Amino acid sequence: MAARPYIAVVGGVNMDITGFSGTELVLGDSNPGQVTMTPGGVGRNIAENIARLGFPVTLVTALGDDTHAQEIRRHCASCGIDLSYSGVIFGVPTSTYLCINDSKGDCLCAIADMAVCDAITPEYLQNRIRALTQSQMIIVDANLSEETLAFIAQSQSAPIIADPVSSKKAPRLAGILGSLYAIKPNRAEAEILSGMKISSQEDLQRVGEWFLYEGVRHVWITLGRDGVFYMNEEEHGIVPCVPGPVVSTNGCGDAFLAAASIALLEGKKLSEAARLGQAASAVCARSPRAVNADLRMDSLNFEFL
Ligand SMILES: Nc1ncnc2c1ncn2[C@@H]1O[C@H](COP(=O)(O)OP(=O)(O)OP(=O)(O)O)[C@@H](O)[C@H]1O
Ligand SMILES: [Mg+2]
Repeated sequence: MAARPYIAVVGGVNMDITGFSGTELVLGDSNPGQVTMTPGGVGRNIAENIARLGFPVTLVTALGDDTHAQEIRRHCASCGIDLSYSGVIFGVPTSTYLCINDSKGDCLCAIADMAVCDAITPEYLQNRIRALTQSQMIIVDANLSEETLAFIAQSQSAPIIADPVSSKKAPRLAGILGSLYAIKPNRAEAEILSGMKISSQEDLQRVGEWFLYEGVRHVWITLGRDGVFYMNEEEHGIVPCVPGPVVSTNGCGDAFLAAASIALLEGKKLSEAARLGQAASAVCARSPRAVNADLRMDSLNFEFL
């Protein structure tokens, strides 16, 4: 990658297989609807959103030696994600995420087969360390192991932003909170990490303060249809969702993190970054895909801010 400023994303890539129910979903039965297959994965989704917002990005991940990997490479090249620091793991399938959406577009249940992520070890990253040391910012997702996350936190000086991925994987970030520039849990992930229930604005504030006490500099807790809570030493509050059509909320958190991270990198306040993130989430929600290919920085600024 050239000497231009860029963001490095280290995390998971999936082939997403998504079912959309055309009518109210009946469990335990066959439901008429649509099934799509698109490149996804939290790290990859964040990288694609960053690329579509016009910021150079390199994605450090591991791919299997199968046709899904070929399709992911082709797709990453077409949207401007640099994959030159990502390797192929022979004999292991590219990871796959199988998701069932209800008729409102919310994910009802999903299964993630992500064994290939285990190949992203400290040694694997040491062989690609230039991707990290020359970046302006590093975004990690909790598909990485605790050991790999600790290696990045201990060896790198660029600001690190983390996405917990899911309630199951969120605890992997517990050991690196003190090294994080920012974190973006959703409500459930924030509850798991902090060990506190969130049912009110006071609870959000308490959990936000807990993250700051643990050493995180900037906190966004995304709240689904209730928007996002933001907090750092200077300011805190809630930015509501931008009203608009919701086709699928899958990937809205990733769009948020991409836009809000670029805003922080460009020196914007946390609240402004949260607003830009909400605008990106609204564009994502209009699309049935995990990433909306129409996302552009100029249209975000023009339409929403
Ligand atoms: N039902 C909804 N209606 C409107 N906007 C939504 C809805 N769900 C999510 N969003 C938007 O997406 C943002 C992030 O959503 P959420 O809190 O669900 O994050 P997430 O669980 O990390 O998402 P994902 O992991 O699917 O990308 C919200 O702040 C909001 O802007
Ligand atoms: Mg998420």
